[in-house]
Amino acid sequence: MAVVSIPDQQRELRDPEAIREFLAPFGIWYEKWDVAGRIDGDADSDTILAAYAPEIERLKRDGGFVTADVINVSPETPNLDAMLVKFSKEHTHSEDEVRFTVRGRGVFHIHPEGGPVFGVTVESGDLINVPRGTKHWFNLCDDRSIRCIRLFEDPTGWAPHYVDDPIDGNYAPLCMGPTDFAIAEKIDSPVKF
Ligand SMILES: [Fe+2]
Repeated sequence: MAVVSIPDQQRELRDPEAIREFLAPFGIWYEKWDVAGRIDGDADSDTILAAYAPEIERLKRDGGFVTADVINVSPETPNLDAMLVKFSKEHTHSEDEVRFTVRGRGVFHIHPEGGPVFGVTVESGDLINVPRGTKHWFNLCDDRSIRCIRLFEDPTGWAPHYVDDPIDGNYAPLCMGPTDFAIAEKIDSPVKF
């Protein structure tokens, strides 16, 4: 279940309805899709895409997406650190970033115009979008592993536009777990992926 944290206000949201209400004004939708019982944890990418074909087709129809793939990141991924640096610097995209987490965890930080920075920790079963043009960055959690379905409007795939004066370094890339009730705070030497 996703967790929203607002470090500058020392607030945290764990109730799915409260999370939906908080995210909606920013154009972010949050859905929960079942994973257990639909796919095995070690299913291959084609099996995952086939299992979620109805949801993927709905998002394509409603959101103008044309392709879907599965990204699989683990500590064994070649050049993992270089890949994660690309995600963890504040950036925007010219299309929505849509991610359904099949396995693993990560945290999106969103930097909205006129609003506080907030983190959305996602785990298995969570679908969120980051609307086009919205400043954000992404970090993995301590186990450095995630498996996600991604949807794209541009078939050439993921393209970041890095922002001037990024603020990602001001926020600790802390993941909020089901048993971790700590409030994310600014720390001097965050663990950067
Ligand atoms: Fe992104």
